[in-house]
Amino acid sequence: MERSDVQIDQKLTSSEIISQEPVLQLWTFQEVAKHSSPSSLWIVINNHVYDVTEFIYEHPGGMEVILEFAGMDATGAFEGKGHSDDAKQLLQKYHIGKLHESDHRG
Ligand code: HEM
Repeated sequence: MERSDVQIDQKLTSSEIISQEPVLQLWTFQEVAKHSSPSSLWIVINNHVYDVTEFIYEHPGGMEVILEFAGMDATGAFEGKGHSDDAKQLLQKYHIGKLHESDHRG
């Protein structure tokens, strides 16, 4: 392989990586608080924001406990219950971004 071919390969690879980098959406608590009903339900866990609207009907622990934290920080409740690694993994499916630095807790 010639030297110029190698350089082309490297260029392609790095631009692919850049284009696939996810842009992390930032939200304020004010925005999260607007999503506090079953028709649009967001919660915050460890400064990350999750849209769990679809999930509330599937939650093995019931809908009520999640509704209680609609539009709010549910970190203590989520971790206090001792959710499994599977549950933590499942959260990623509903991840929609992070809280603004100025709204971080803990
Ligand atoms: C919104 C994100 C949440 C996800 C993805 C989630 C996921 C799960 C999953 C997969 C289970 C089955 C057991 C396990 O794998 O640990 C579970 C059980 C449970 N969850 Fe959650 N959960 C969430 C939020 C909450 C919150 C905020 C509470 C409030 C206390 C809660 C309370 C419970 C309880 C009490 C159970 C036990 C149900 C039982 O075993 O009878 N969960 N959750």
